[in-house]
Amino acid sequence: MIPRSTRLLLSILCMSLPAGARDLRAFFQERCAVCHGHDGTGRRPNGGKLGGGIFTDPRWVAKQQEADLVVSILRGKGAMPGFGRQLSESEAHRLVASVIPSLAVRKKP
Ligand code: HEC
Repeated sequence: MIPRSTRLLLSILCMSLPAGARDLRAFFQERCAVCHGHDGTGRRPNGGKLGGGIFTDPRWVAKQQEADLVVSILRGKGAMPGFGRQLSESEAHRLVASVIPSLAVRKKP
């Protein structure tokens, strides 16, 4: 038997994830962090440094238009491949609007 308190907790956890919503933070860590770094600084796990798209640089962020970034994610840009097959437009939008900014919190480039 699962204790009542555990069942309650589980049901709360399930409710907070809308049906079909994907964990885009996990997706970022799996698919994007190889190039962008786990914290969005553009420092790769292998020690390399990305030439563009430094999510933690306020000067870079200030110059970006959300819609352009969504297009870059879906179609690719420069050395970055497009993710239009793996992500819907609304998922790409959620990456730009919430996942990427949340990575940059309290991090300096
Ligand atoms: C193979 C390495 C690689 C992977 C994987 C990768 N990126 Fe990038 N990304 C880059 C590079 C390089 C740039 C800079 C492109 C440029 O400015 O020419 C970039 C730029 C960006 C930008 C800025 C685009 C712009 O218009 O300036 C965003 C946003 C971005 N990436 C998001 C993501 C997301 C989200 C993922 C995962 C779904 C991802 N990237 C996966 C290499 C990568």
